[in-house]
Amino acid sequence: MAVSYKDLGLVNTVDMFQKAVKGGYAIPAYNFNNMEQIQAIIMACTETASPVILQVSSGARKYANQTLLRYMAQGAVEYAKELGGGKNIPIALHLDHGDTYELCVSCIETGFSSVMIDGSHHDYETNVELTKKVVEYAHKYNVTVEGELGVLAGVEDDVSAEHHTYTEPDQVEDFVKKTGVDSLAISIGTSHGAFKFKPGQKAEIRLDILAEIEKRIPGFPIVLHGSSSVPQDLVKKINHFGGKLDDAVGISEDQLREAAKSAVCKINIDSDGRLAMTAAIREVFATKPAEFDPRKYLGPARDALKNLYKHKNDTVLGSSGHAFD
Ligand code: G3H
Ligand code: 13P
Ligand code: ZN
Repeated sequence: MAVSYKDLGLVNTVDMFQKAVKGGYAIPAYNFNNMEQIQAIIMACTETASPVILQVSSGARKYANQTLLRYMAQGAVEYAKELGGGKNIPIALHLDHGDTYELCVSCIETGFSSVMIDGSHHDYETNVELTKKVVEYAHKYNVTVEGELGVLAGVEDDVSAEHHTYTEPDQVEDFVKKTGVDSLAISIGTSHGAFKFKPGQKAEIRLDILAEIEKRIPGFPIVLHGSSSVPQDLVKKINHFGGKLDDAVGISEDQLREAAKSAVCKINIDSDGRLAMTAAIREVFATKPAEFDPRKYLGPARDALKNLYKHKNDTVLGSSGHAFD
């Protein structure tokens, strides 16, 4: 075993999820690709006393380099300790949308405490087989595994789906039993990116399917991907300062809050952070055209991200105040 997450001060998601399901809130899973994002996440979650899952996609690994990202996550634990006066919030390092067994193994060997194996694009039997194989390896090292059943519409890395294939409530119990996963991502109408609903379409997710799924696997940790709310003030600000985001619509905060009260214990948010940073940077570029010090636009972007994540923890996920339960 090359590096264990335990030596880096990270935790897996077992405890976090048990407490979240019991307490009726969800753990934030925020993606990061660079320093300002990880700073904003740690500041926001420390100030709100929230546990957090730091997510790395394969796109992030390509963009930022896997070694740098891993050391950034390790640094995040120390940074959280510094901000928390010697006591740090629980932090998990999670592979987002792992698509192969080899990628999951490589992440586990380099200090990840949790991995997602996304076999949702395969047929059911192949998904079960692949997920089970990852679980068998991961559990030897106490690393937790998220699987997925059902396909979200939109783009996931290089794979794109035109329509949602909602998770079949009838399949979940069998999938969980056969694979041994620690949590299950489901498809109930969320999707990745900033354009989740078409103009004129009812912007609602299927909480009725979620309720059906919960009946089949009571108390089992459920994960929602594609859960950005696409705040319209940010879209307006981006467009006001020269951007072009027409018809960007997200998931309502009320519906997410509802889901977080149930067995949904991990909510994935990436696009809203991208919007917050873009709006702040566009404002600096438009109002201070002579500015060319990156700290003068990345700093405001970091502040905007931190405030957005504090808002999510406080009022959408309900994770604030639960770091040391
Ligand atoms: O699920 C997708 C996440 O937002 C990560 O996006 O693959 O562009 O890094 P990415
Ligand atoms: P959003 O694009 O809605 O932020 O979803 C992110 C996500 O699901 C990461 O896995
Ligand atoms: Zn996702």
